[in-house]
Formats: sequence, C-alpha cells, structure tokens
Amino acid sequence: MQQHETVIVLDFGGQYNQLIARRVRENNVYCEIYSYKTDPAVIRAKNPKGIIFTGGPNSVYLEDSPSCDPEIFTWGVPILGICYGSQLMMHLLGGKVTRAPEREYGKTEVFVDTSSKLFEGVSPSTICWMSHNDYIEQAAPGFKITAHTANCPVAAMEDTNRGLYAVQFHPEVLHTAEGKKMLHNFVYNVCGCAGDWKMDSFVESNVKALREQIGDGKVLCALSGGVDSSVLAAMLAKAVGKQLTCVFVDHGLLRKNEKEEVCAVFGPGNPNFDINFICVDARARYFSKLAGVTEPERKRKIIGEEFIRVFEEEAKKIGHVDFLAQGTIYPDVVESGLGGESTVIKSHHNVGGLPDHVDFKALVEPLRNLFKDEVRQAGRELGLPEYIVSRQPFPGPGLAIRIIGEVTPEKVAIVQDADAIWREEIAKAGLAGEISQYYAALTNMHSVGVMGDERTYDYAVALRAVTTTDFMTAESYNVPWDVLGTVTSRIVNEVKHVNRVFYDCTGKPPATIEME
Ligand code: XMP
Repeated sequence: MQQHETVIVLDFGGQYNQLIARRVRENNVYCEIYSYKTDPAVIRAKNPKGIIFTGGPNSVYLEDSPSCDPEIFTWGVPILGICYGSQLMMHLLGGKVTRAPEREYGKTEVFVDTSSKLFEGVSPSTICWMSHNDYIEQAAPGFKITAHTANCPVAAMEDTNRGLYAVQFHPEVLHTAEGKKMLHNFVYNVCGCAGDWKMDSFVESNVKALREQIGDGKVLCALSGGVDSSVLAAMLAKAVGKQLTCVFVDHGLLRKNEKEEVCAVFGPGNPNFDINFICVDARARYFSKLAGVTEPERKRKIIGEEFIRVFEEEAKKIGHVDFLAQGTIYPDVVESGLGGESTVIKSHHNVGGLPDHVDFKALVEPLRNLFKDEVRQAGRELGLPEYIVSRQPFPGPGLAIRIIGEVTPEKVAIVQDADAIWREEIAKAGLAGEISQYYAALTNMHSVGVMGDERTYDYAVALRAVTTTDFMTAESYNVPWDVLGTVTSRIVNEVKHVNRVFYDCTGKPPATIEME
C-alpha cells in the first residue's frame, strides 16, 4: 500500500489515546497508536513524521511506571508530550516532576507564549483542560517555558532545537478551547506534514492493495447489513467483484424492512455491486430454537451458535475459499490490546464471531485502520446509500434482546412496527443526529386498557433513547414531550396488541443500553 506520512501516538495508558489519533487524522494526517512497550525499532521503522506521548494515570517518578527508551529523543523526530507524556519527557531528560501541592482539574486559564510554533494563532490567554496530580517543578535543561497557569508554573515547554514539545493540559479534548489549533500546529508547523491522508485516496489505495492480496482467490464475507460489514462488502466488491460471495442470514430478528434494504443494495439486480450474494432464510430455524426460551444469556447463545451453523452450511456449499473477510475496525484492534495500551476486554461480539470450520487460507480485514466515522466516510466514497452508512449500532442477536421473555414471530412483528414508528418520528423531529442509539423494546407485561368501548389486555412497549460516547456508560436522552406524545399515540393506534407505551429514563449504569 502507498506509504502515507504517519504520526505515531505512543500510549502510556491515557483515556484519551484514541481521541488524539482521531484529532491528528482530522488534519488529514494518518495516525496509529502503539503501546509504550512496543519495540522502538518497530516505531522507528514506521518512519514517523512526529510522535505524541499520551497522558496516563501513573507518576513518572515511581518504579514500574510506564516509560520509554530515552533514545527516542535523539531520532530527530518531533515529539509532543501530553500530561503524563510531558512529565515523562521532563523526567527522562533531567527535569523535576513532583506531587503538586494542589491537584489541578477542570477548565483552567492558561497563559501561552504565542511566538511558539505550537501556539501560533492561539489567544495569549486560553482555556485548557487540566487533569493532573503531579506537576513539573522544573523543566529539563534546554527547554523554554511557553505557558503557565495560576497554579502551575510550567504548563508548556519546548526545545525547538531537538523538536521536543510538551503540554501539561489536554489539547485533544473539546474542553480545551483551542486544542485543535494546537494539534494542527504540531502536525503542520512542527512536524512539517503535508496532509496527504484523504478518504478517497485511502479507499483507492486499499482497493488496490486488496486486489494484490487476493489475486484471483475467492473471498467469503458474512454480511449483517450493519455499517462495518456493509462497507467491508462494498470495498471487496469494488476490488474483486465476482470473486466475492456475501452471505446474509435472515434470522427473523432484523428491524423492519432491513432485509429488503440490504438486498436492494447487494442482492441480485442491484445497480452497484456485481458479486455473488446469498440470502439465507433461516427464520423458521431460529424461531424453533428460541421457542420457550426466556433467559437472556441463553437466547444470545442459541442465536450465536445457530449463526455459525447456518454460515458453515453455506460455506460448505461454496467449498474452499481463499479468504474470509472480517469487519474489524480500529477501536477493536486497540481495545483488544494489539494497538495501544488500554486493555478493555470486549464484552460483546457480533453474532457468532469467527466460525471454526470454514475452510479458508487467510483473513482479510481492510477496515482495520479506520475509526467508526471513517468507516462511514469510506462507505459514502464507495457509493453506499446514506441509510446504510449512517445506521446506528444494532446488536448481532437483533430484536431477540429487545424482547423480554420468549421470542415469537408475533412479538417480533410488534417490536418491528413500534420501532419503525419511533425511528420515523425521531427523524421527523430532527433528533437523529443528537441521539446515539434509540429503539423500541417489548416488555413482557400485559395490562388492562380500554379501546373504543372494549376492554383490552395487551402489551406495553418501552421506548429507549440514549446518548453516549463510548457505549460503556450512557444517559437517557431528554426527548421532548410532544415527540413522545406523537409516538405513543401512533404506536397504540397503528400497532395491534399494544395498549401502553413507556419511556425508559434509566442511564447506564445501572441499566444497560439494550433491554433484555
Ligand atoms: P449494552 O446493552 O451492554 O450495549 O449497554 C452496549 C452497546 O453494545 C451493543 N450490543 C451488541 N452489539 N453484539 C453487538 O454487535 C451484541 O451481542 C451486542 N449486545 C449489545 C448495544 O446495541 C449497544 O450499542
């Protein structure tokens, strides 16, 4: 693949490591995250235009705190240290870092020297986000102090001869008013990047690389209709066309019209992609396996196992394939500990994960280097319709984990219809962009109601809408009352067997985003 100019984020365990990389990429400069434990030779071989040390929760002066080989400072590659990264740089180069008399936390006024390349165009007094217990009592020899706060005499410093820069605050978070400008300055003024990372060139070079990797081999791809697998399929379709077979399993637990939407884009007669497309109607199989099952984890297990079985059966019919395509994206790579330092173990897997018995030679994972919004952008480049690329997350086990109690075709139909109304009204109210995830679920509750002059004894639907940045914690979204009113009256009028609608006001924790 064509070599892009690259900035490396060296991860010392900071919570914003992915954000730093995103910010760099927003400047059209490719950026990758590596753990501080990575062999320096590997980093150097990447020929980086610049390196950024992240923050981290430790104290540099304690034994066993994350560190790096000080040789890195002699490479002649510009380095920016952020928070812990700035303290580490000072510590390793002969400065003094100690416990601060007072912890500095939150939005803080910082006075910066605007003659610094890093602060070009920044206001002399600017609000920055601080979060540190230790502070730099004394900068290392050769460094000039370029910013301070009321509490912190050394808030930024630089040694322009060696290309070393350090800031105590966090330029990557939005609370730092001019942080984007500072990172832009680092990448362009200090590192001298040209900004050659663009989505169209990325897609093009990736398609070319896929053609080289795959040659005349056959590729198999499990298509769920979600953003990642759709973009994956589109990219492979563009690269190798008919050598690609996509298997789409209709387990009967999809959202309303989802199957039709996926088939319209990838199925026979579609105007976009000339591929082999198999749509497996597995609805009956799933419903019979799920009959009588009420326990949520059991449902998940059944659905996951059944997916593998169905997929394997189809794969067997196709015979030997050379490659299995996977929609792994960059946060998965980083979270699984392969990229950066944070080692969050993923608690969710897409349906089935990797089938064991599919006969293939190697994996292709062309989205491995992309963040979620970049995957969407790549999808647009590849000509996917907006309703696919802007889809919100949908769990692999589908509507089964939005139905409390036993899953039946009748219950699925109720959820599908209620959910479609909820989505339609949210879009109409212009709220879709503000909410991270929203859906309708079916509680297992029946209650008495009255419709016309008739007594009813029907289900209660629950509506959910949350905002979140990482899906690990979430807040219930404050949906305007009139929108809730419209949706409620539409659902009870248009969806049979529903006589009540609830709105879930619970955050995560203590609830989860899904309702199972
Ligand atoms: P919870 O309900 O645990 O969900 O708060 C957090 C996020 O993960 C999604 N989710 C899944 N995604 N397979 C997936 O691909 C799954 O089995 C699964 N379960 C939950 C959920 O929709 C939310 O975005």
